[in-house]
Amino acid sequence: MAQPIDQASTHSRYPFSSTPDGWYAVATSAEIQPGRVRPLRYFGQDLVLYRTASGEARVTDAHCPHLGAHFGHGGSVEGEELVCPFHGWRFDGAGRCSGIPYLSRGQLPDVAVKTKRVDERGGLVLVWHSDDGTEPEWHMRDIPEFDDPGWLGYESKRWKIRMHVQELAENVPDTAHFETVHGLPVLPRAEARTEGPVYYQRSSVPGTSMGTEDDEYVFALQEAWGLGLVWLRVPQSPGIFFLTATTPIDDEYCEMAIHLLLEDTEGQGELSEAQRQTVEMTFSQIEPDVPIWENKVYRERPPLIEDDGPLPLLRRWAQQFYPELRTKA
Ligand code: FES
Ligand SMILES: [Fe+2]
Repeated sequence: MAQPIDQASTHSRYPFSSTPDGWYAVATSAEIQPGRVRPLRYFGQDLVLYRTASGEARVTDAHCPHLGAHFGHGGSVEGEELVCPFHGWRFDGAGRCSGIPYLSRGQLPDVAVKTKRVDERGGLVLVWHSDDGTEPEWHMRDIPEFDDPGWLGYESKRWKIRMHVQELAENVPDTAHFETVHGLPVLPRAEARTEGPVYYQRSSVPGTSMGTEDDEYVFALQEAWGLGLVWLRVPQSPGIFFLTATTPIDDEYCEMAIHLLLEDTEGQGELSEAQRQTVEMTFSQIEPDVPIWENKVYRERPPLIEDDGPLPLLRRWAQQFYPELRTKA
């Protein structure tokens, strides 16, 4: 994406932390096979993702407590342990040092590599992040379509975008931009509600504007599970269900990924040509937003009109993910 050089950093454009509490997608399950280690960079941290022989996905700090080697560059997995490429120290699921191949005297040192909480669900490796160490009290919904052999996916695409993670969530209630940025023929109507960490929204336009007799045409049912995981279903296209996942990389950038599940309507075990086009079209719909996100600032008290949609509700809901805003409330 474009790299603007003529304006303030992302961090200074936002009045709060770049890394709000939440579950964030760091990989699809298929992207990490047993015995493999992958370097990751998210939340301003160098991390590794690995999968043990028994199939457990784990995320730890990237650098070995011994002399600092990066596990993601030459490290390996043996059985249920992560093995450092430099001197072969081994680490267990809690991150504790569990073996040193050349230890001949004394005890194993009582050291550990920091681990992150992982929840693998619906074919996604989700990691919990909290700036102040708050533990999760919720997890993302289950995704039965992923385990259903009648569905295909994920079809995924990723972008690195110079924005704050809250922008994608704010995009949901921002009904007015669907007309200007995404070419919807009329201003949509959005009904939203929240339930704990989930924001639900139903978006519609009058049926006549889409050439139908119906009173309304519902074009999106969205669920945001925290700020990083927004699921979208289109009632008129029941064979498609997708996630827009946003994960903070650091104070400047987010990774945005779209992960689509599609029903295998023809039973072919692969996407039809029409489905491939749907996938490409879905990917392309995010692109007009990107230059806006990369260059905008956050208005704390925007002069909203009623037709601007339920942004105030989303912002009130979002406060729970910021330790600094929770303590003020
Ligand atoms: S740096 Fe990892 S074992 Fe020495
Ligand atoms: Fe948008």
